[in-house]
This record gives sequence, C-alpha cells and structure tokens, in this order.
Amino acid sequence: MRVLGIETSCDETGVAIYDTEHGLLADTLHSQVAMHADYGGVVPELASRDHTRRLLPLIDEVLDQANMSRHDIDAIAYTAGPGLVGALMVGASTAHGMARALGIHVLGIHHMEGHLLAPMLEDEPPAFPFVALLVSGGHTQLVRVDGIGCYTLLGESVDDAAGEAFDKVAKMLDLDYPGGPRVAALAENGDPKRLRFPRPMTDRPGLDFSFSGLKTHTLTTIREFERRHELDDQARCDIARAFEEAVADTLAIKCRRALEQTGLKRLVVAGGVSANVRLRTRLDEQSRKQGARVFYPRGRFCTDNGAMIAYAGAQRLAAGERDEVGQMKAVPRWP
Ligand code: KG4
Ligand code: ZN
Repeated sequence: MRVLGIETSCDETGVAIYDTEHGLLADTLHSQVAMHADYGGVVPELASRDHTRRLLPLIDEVLDQANMSRHDIDAIAYTAGPGLVGALMVGASTAHGMARALGIHVLGIHHMEGHLLAPMLEDEPPAFPFVALLVSGGHTQLVRVDGIGCYTLLGESVDDAAGEAFDKVAKMLDLDYPGGPRVAALAENGDPKRLRFPRPMTDRPGLDFSFSGLKTHTLTTIREFERRHELDDQARCDIARAFEEAVADTLAIKCRRALEQTGLKRLVVAGGVSANVRLRTRLDEQSRKQGARVFYPRGRFCTDNGAMIAYAGAQRLAAGERDEVGQMKAVPRWP
C-alpha cells in the first residue's frame, strides 16, 4: 500500500510517500521559518496561507520523485492535530478532497504519534516495547509504547515544553526564531563550569517535567548580568550553555528513571529538540551505562515532516482505520 502523507500543523509543509513494502519512496518539505522570522514566531494566518500555496506543488513534487501518478496512491494520511487550526485545515481538506476525487481512503493522524514513530523510518528501527521521550515545541512527554496505538503516558510537562523553553530563552538572548538551534549554537562556545542552573523536579520521585522555573532562572541570570554590565558575548554563550546543560540533564535523568521503572532497555527520542547534540550525547552516555540503546530519527525527521505522517498513517490504514467520507478532522488540542 502506497500512502501519501501530509503535514501542515504548524510552520512546515511536509509531504511524503510511504510504501508498506518498499519503505519511504519520496519526501519533501517547505519550511516557513524565514517568513515567520521577521515576526519572532509563527503567525497562524500567514502559516495557513503559505500551506495553501505550497501544498499542491509539493504533492506533485513527491509524485515526480517517486515516478508515480496520483492514481498510484492507495490512501492518504494527514495531520489532524494538535496544531494551528487554520494550518491543519489546509492539510485536512486537501487530503479529503483528493481522497474523494480518487476514490481512496483517508485518515487523520495525531501529530505526536507521527513524531513517536519517526525512528521507525531508519535502517535499524526499535522493536516494541520501548520508552519514548517526545520533545517538541508543544510537548514534553515520556510514553511507554507497546505497539502502534498502545501508548501509556508515563509523565509530561506540567507547564512549558522543552522546545518552548528553548524558544523563549532564545528571545531573552535576542536570538531569532526558531530559538532551539540558535541557543544550541551559542552554547557551543559557552563555558560549562561558569554557571550551574537548576534541574527542575529531579529531586523528587516521578516522571513529570517543569521548565517554567528554569526559564525564569535564566531570565533572572540575564538581568543580573545586565545590572552588573557584564552581559558580553561570552556571558551570553555561558548562559545558553548552562540552560542547555540543565535541560539535557533533566531530560536524561527522567529517561533513566523511566527505563528503570518499566524495566525496558530501548529508548526512542523524537520531536524537534531530539536534534539537540548535547541532549543526544548525554542520553547516549547514560544509556550505555544502563545497558540500554537509544534510537533517534535522522536529523530532518526530528522536526516536522510528511514522512512520519505517511508512516503512521500506513500502519493505521493497514489495520483498517479510516475517516468517514467527508468527516475531515482538524483538532487544535488533542490529548
Ligand atoms: O517537533 P517540532 O519541529 O515542532 C513541534 O511539533 O513543536 O519542534 C520544534 C521545536 C522548537 O521549539 C525548536 O526550537 C526545537 O524544536 N528545536 C531544538 C533544536 N532543533 C529544533 N531545540 C534544541 N536544539 C535543537 N538543535
Ligand atoms: Zn512537531
């Protein structure tokens, strides 16, 4: 079965074709990052309009890449939520319109399930069961995964998501949107010994996270440096480093606990923040000591993409799931 995957939940238009026999056949992406950068964040209305402009040409592009016509597609999967409702509706209505015209099945997919299953597209995919750490701009969650659709939430952020904290700290440091990669680049030149930031909620049992206090701590530190007229380039790098170390360490501590608690030896890390090199290094070291193995998506599949939606859709469509005709789904909040 060849499934066209469409992702339009936020600021990337992602399209891909996944074949249940031959794997990923084609994948393309248009990022709106440059368009939103002038505004310091995603402008929902602009995002929807740009998805509308880009989506059909990108679908033609993946069909070309795969040397297929649209009549060779067996089913369509699209991101149904969570996300920006206008942006989601572009993908959902295009998917439903195309499916109706072609007389094929269509299915709305949970964006985070897409992220969760992204490492399945790699050469050595993890076997079930595993623990997944999902770290994106909107979510920070630890999930026990026993199979497709068999998910148990082990813990999540009680306030900001890890990616959101990266983005907010980037703003405090006058860095452009999206902040995560920019904070990481600044942290590269930071001295890890100069400052030590708190590791929130690691001093008590449990698998929940909180990043709001760490964000405030970072702001207070920046203000303190400013007050002393010491906020020079090096200080900014050192602050970025201390923040990044604290996030990586906190996530790693909770992952270790989740593996201990479940007795599992496989950890999947996905979502935009899983691209962070310091986090990966920290998790790799720790897992080696624990006798566990960590699985990541390749770089371009850490952030939003169509391939993860095509893959998740293929699994669920193959199991017989589909949307009712005309029942397109676009849900901004979806637990
Ligand atoms: O998964 P994603 O593309 O979109 C959501 O579903 O939210 O994640 C985007 C988030 C942003 O907050 C971005 O700053 C963060 O992932 N991010 C990073 C890195 N690359 C992206 N955070 C830290 N280090 C990175 N290298
Ligand atoms: Zn995402």
